[in-house]
Amino acid sequence: MKRTKIFADANLTIGKVDANLYGSFLEHLGRAIYEGIYEPGHPAADENGFRRDVLGLIGELNVPIVRYPGGNFLSGYNWRDGVGPRENRPVRLDLAWHTTEPNAFGTDEFIKWCRAAHIEPMLGVNMGTGTVREAAEFVEYCNHAGGTTISDMRRANGAEQPYNVRYWCLGNEMDGPWQIGHLSADEYGKKALEAAKVMRWTNGETDGGAEKGKLRLIVSGSSNHEMKTFPEWDRIVLEHTYEQVDYLSMHRYYEYSEDRADPLEDFLGSADDMHEYINTLKATIEYVRAKLRSERRVKISFDEWNIWTQSAPRREPLWKRAPHLLEDVYTFRDTIVFAGLMNTLLNNCDAVGIGCLAQLVNVIAPIMTEKGGGTLKQATFYPFKYISNAARGETVRTFSDSDKFGSMYGAARCINEAVNFDKTGKTLCVSLCNYAQEAREAELELRSFGDLKATEYIELTNADLGAVNTFESPEAVVPHQRELPAVKEGSRLSLTLPAMSWSFLKFSAK
Ligand code: AHR
Repeated sequence: MKRTKIFADANLTIGKVDANLYGSFLEHLGRAIYEGIYEPGHPAADENGFRRDVLGLIGELNVPIVRYPGGNFLSGYNWRDGVGPRENRPVRLDLAWHTTEPNAFGTDEFIKWCRAAHIEPMLGVNMGTGTVREAAEFVEYCNHAGGTTISDMRRANGAEQPYNVRYWCLGNEMDGPWQIGHLSADEYGKKALEAAKVMRWTNGETDGGAEKGKLRLIVSGSSNHEMKTFPEWDRIVLEHTYEQVDYLSMHRYYEYSEDRADPLEDFLGSADDMHEYINTLKATIEYVRAKLRSERRVKISFDEWNIWTQSAPRREPLWKRAPHLLEDVYTFRDTIVFAGLMNTLLNNCDAVGIGCLAQLVNVIAPIMTEKGGGTLKQATFYPFKYISNAARGETVRTFSDSDKFGSMYGAARCINEAVNFDKTGKTLCVSLCNYAQEAREAELELRSFGDLKATEYIELTNADLGAVNTFESPEAVVPHQRELPAVKEGSRLSLTLPAMSWSFLKFSAK
């Protein structure tokens, strides 16, 4: 059996993991909202129509922040459509997804839902059909205490206290021709700067900055690194907005199509590709910072990431309400790649301050629901749950002699890992993907953490790469407990990683 050595030392860290790395995303798209988190009349719904069973699963995932209301939907959305008495709210055509939007759920419901879910809201302002004025008024609606027509609208709608929403996206994927109101980098950069400035003024900020109580603004970066405009888009937009924003957003979906007979190696190289993509953006941010002689540190908000088979045909007719759209079913194969993407986010936690798994319920999601019925944990639910609950504190740099395989992204590592140490809780965790077609021995040397004892060891493996969880067979792809390994001298251990697998270990440190 081939052997890979992995070395980590508590003194060599990459950075602190921001809890917001485990964020997610809910868009007015398909059944994410309607029949997903919100289904009045469902036996598990509370008095607001929020499904308690779904809230329970989101709690298991330990998601701290959720981006809303889009996505592509955002670029045609007027926030005013979603507030006030429900019977007066307009029914609109949604040109992003070609559906009908009833506006039965809007900002007030979302904030209420966030409070019920113990989640921080991350709202977006429309930079497609929307104006700078509408963006500022949205901030006024949410954050101004009262005494103005717009803030008093919120109070009349039942929320006496301001929402104090801190995180705001300045539009969505504005580099994409598919976006409603798509702009060039220069046009968007100028508009985003004005929106940012005026949103801050509305929030009572006169000096920019991102200290306590101030808005955290996220400017739209490239939709993916295959865009012809990447990374020029990011450079130009940042040069316009650098002094006003806190994050540059990036998005990336990886996909594997069996129908197209995609080479498996290309898919398995996704985690390494994501790492390269982040590195290019890190460099772009640093370039702009140097050029502008700025002291400000802009971070990355990786606010859409996941596996998504975009080539799947659309089956629902036009203009339906809450149609079954983008309801990808995640395979075991997808899940081991997904775990590698999480490792990459952790290994770049010095630059990535926010991560949003896109999305959370029903739409390319770890949680599925049946109308009037039950819920299902997709296979991807498990790596997210284990990693988000345990990989806190700091990510520790790893050194490994893993061999590589060829993929369309270049050479990718067979063994992909992330090591996290929480000094306060004195816990260590290790996430390991084996992308080789045969079992591997991993020799771990974990130095200076104290006397390590394994407390949990789970493994996700399956003879069938295409295995999926379904409502009929919900546990086809679930992790299994393994016998705890002995740790020699409190720091060295050896593991057998099955072919094509994900393993996760937790240790206590004394
Ligand atoms: O998450 C689905 C869609 O993917 C989002 O609406 C858009 O921002 C991205 O292209």
